[in-house]
Amino acid sequence: MGKLDGKVALISGAAGGFGAELVRVFAREGAAVVAGDIVGESGEQLEREVHTAGGRAKYCHLDVTLEKDWGNAVQEAISRFGKLDILVNNAGIVPRNAPIEERTVEEWDRVMAVNARGVFLGTRFAIPAMREAGGGSIVNVSSVAAIGQSQIMEAAYAASKGAVRIFSKVTAAQHAKDAIRCNSVHPGPIDTGLLRGVLSNPEILNRRLGRIPLGRLGKIKEVVAGVLYLASDEASYTTGTELVIDGGALAQ
Ligand SMILES: NC(=O)c1ccc[n+]([C@@H]2O[C@H](COP(=O)([O-])OP(=O)(O)OC[C@H]3O[C@@H](n4cnc5c(N)ncnc54)[C@H](O)[C@@H]3O)[C@@H](O)[C@H]2O)c1
Repeated sequence: MGKLDGKVALISGAAGGFGAELVRVFAREGAAVVAGDIVGESGEQLEREVHTAGGRAKYCHLDVTLEKDWGNAVQEAISRFGKLDILVNNAGIVPRNAPIEERTVEEWDRVMAVNARGVFLGTRFAIPAMREAGGGSIVNVSSVAAIGQSQIMEAAYAASKGAVRIFSKVTAAQHAKDAIRCNSVHPGPIDTGLLRGVLSNPEILNRRLGRIPLGRLGKIKEVVAGVLYLASDEASYTTGTELVIDGGALAQ
């Protein structure tokens, strides 16, 4: 029996990194998955891969900054698979590294639009569908940047992820009455495409590794396992909490 048998999930940023692996694992665990992203080619390839493995997935063009795309994505889940039980707000971007005084307003707004507005919009569109389904689970992918390590964090990214952290708690408190749970996941540095760009400088990489008690980058599957737990009914009494997956970095 799968951990998500009978569930319908919508995952944003589903074509790469955590998102693609979430689609594979959720489908393997029995969920029907709408995989939303702005990278159509990889998304459609992932859809075929899941079908070949005997699972159910549908790629859907979803720019998380746009209301109309969220409306379409939630509608896709309902019309194709009958309902929506799980939303993983995973899409996110990292801006070029820059001190606060050199950050442009355009860059700031773009990071906030994808990382924070995207989570708000996904939640806003998912709530009525989840209420209709009798409840649901929202998992928001934030970051350790939302909680600490401020000396090495980039301000716009950290602010956007901090917004996601507290937004998750307010969502949990306001929608417990609808049987909708909402939690945030806070990965430290994990070996994905997004991070390889940021840590391509060996000096920055070594500085980050030196701050991780387990002494290595995390693996995608180590984050996916946490998201799966929070999405599933195994976490039925867990809402408004934050799951840190960071090799011990924040524990110091
Ligand atoms: N990799 C890490 O170390 C790490 C650490 C902490 C948090 N995170 C967070 O995890 C999430 C996933 O990161 P990842 O490492 O898998 O990144 P990634 O770059 O490998 O994948 C991100 C995905 O989001 C998609 N995306 C970007 N803009 C989008 C938009 N406007 N609408 C829809 N999709 C969009 C991209 O196309 C891509 O498929 C992000 O929210 C990121 O901030 C990552």
